[in-house]
Order: sequence, then structure tokens, then C-alpha cells
Amino acid sequence: MDIHRLRNDVTVLADQTEIPGLGHLPVNAFVLHADQPVVIDTGLSLPDRDFVTTLSSVIDPVDVKWIWLTHPDRDHTGGLYELLDAAPNARVITTFLGMGILASQNPLPLERVYLLNPGQSIDVGDRSLTAFRPPVFDSPATTGLFDTRTGVCLSSDCFGAVLETPEHAAVADLADAPESELKARQLLWAGVDSPWVHNVHPDRFAAMLSELRRLDPSWILSSHLPPTRSVDTLFTNLLDAPQSDPFVGPDQAALEAMLAEFEPVPA
Ligand SMILES: [Fe+2]
Ligand SMILES: [Fe+2]
Repeated sequence: MDIHRLRNDVTVLADQTEIPGLGHLPVNAFVLHADQPVVIDTGLSLPDRDFVTTLSSVIDPVDVKWIWLTHPDRDHTGGLYELLDAAPNARVITTFLGMGILASQNPLPLERVYLLNPGQSIDVGDRSLTAFRPPVFDSPATTGLFDTRTGVCLSSDCFGAVLETPEHAAVADLADAPESELKARQLLWAGVDSPWVHNVHPDRFAAMLSELRRLDPSWILSSHLPPTRSVDTLFTNLLDAPQSDPFVGPDQAALEAMLAEFEPVPA
């Protein structure tokens, strides 16, 4: 996991994972250094990741006041329970559904939960954070957050892209890895992550995007894209998601063909 101090008040904990045949997906968690520090998501759930140790090089977990869980997918919850132990003063910002989904595996103690719906805000001392439902999402529990003081917008899975190389997925700023195919890669991810988008009328989808665009974000911090100030590009690229080609994953025959390629050649 790489650590990038993006701004005085934002650190990115940047990881990535390979999706065979598609490319390299950034997987970001964030620390918002507000008066009441906020950790946003807790990384991949792979056994070799140690989110709390990585986080500890950025902030003492004891000082963490909030853990904003954008949604309870396993690429966002990796260090959640360890962090709850290490950060006794922190409460988890989620929704009723987020709490419910987690309860099917490991219920959160109720006194550690703070339920915040899209449209509601929370004061974290020096700023207010507003929850919103991103234009694309893969969990009914998803909330992004908009920092009303700085315009920084954390969009969860929305605006993600599967990038061409691990080097591209690892850059600190998207501007450092110009992607000629960024639009195609954004649309591919939108279709993979939110296949329902193809059922949305393009006008309605455009209206959902404009609602967020009107907030005038200064940065887009997606869970699945290097941070960027090229806000207009991301919004314009995503406009075509309803009309983009639906993603169809490899089937069993394709999997067997792939495995056959890996079979050892007899000496
Ligand atoms: Fe997700
Ligand atoms: Fe995700």
C-alpha cells in the first residue's frame, strides 16, 4: 500500500488489485485530517494486508474519531474490525443498510455506529461533510461524501476505472498517468460495477450527474481511480454509461481455455 499526502488535509492509502483480462483496479482508502479525523474505508480484505499498521504511519488510530464506510464491500472493509479495536474513540458512519449487511457477518456494536443518509450532513469540527448517493454504485448502502469546506468529493466506487498497468494504477495524481483510453476504461468499470446503469434513461442519468456536478467538486477522490482535479473529464466520460456496451464476464469455456494455457508443458 502506498501513502500519498494529497493535500494538507487529505492522505491517500493507495492499493490496487488485478482483474484478470481487464486490467488494474486502484483501491483507495483515505484519511481526512479534519479537527475530528475521519478514515474513509479500510482497504482490501486480503490476508497479507495490514491496514491498521499502514494507517498508523499516517495517524495514531487513537486519534481517529470517525470511520466513514462508503459501503460494506470487501474491498472497503479489510481493516474495519481491527481499526475498531485500535481506535476506541471512533464511530462508524454508515447507513441502516450498511449496518444490516455487516450484521450478517459480524455485527457492529450499536454504540459505535452513526447512521447518515444521503442528503444528511455531519459536523467534524472544522467542516461539515454531506453524504450523497453517487450516480453509480454497487451496494444499496453506498454513500459518497462531499467536504463543504474544500469541495473535495469522495465518490466511493463511482468514477472508477480499470487501468492498463499497475504503474498507472499507482500514480498519486491521475495527471501523472495520462490514459488515452480513460473514457473507455471508466465506462467498462461502470458496466462491471453497476450493470443496472444500462437500464437507466440517458436523460435521467445525465440529471443525476449534473446534481453532483453542481456542487462544483475541487477534487474527485474515487475508491477506484487515482485522485484527480480533472472533474469535468470524469463527468463527461461517464455520461455515456447507459448506452455503453454491457460487460459479459468469461464463462466456463473461457475459464477452461485460460487454465489450459497455464498447464505445465511436459519436459
Ligand atoms: Fe463496491
Ligand atoms: Fe469498491
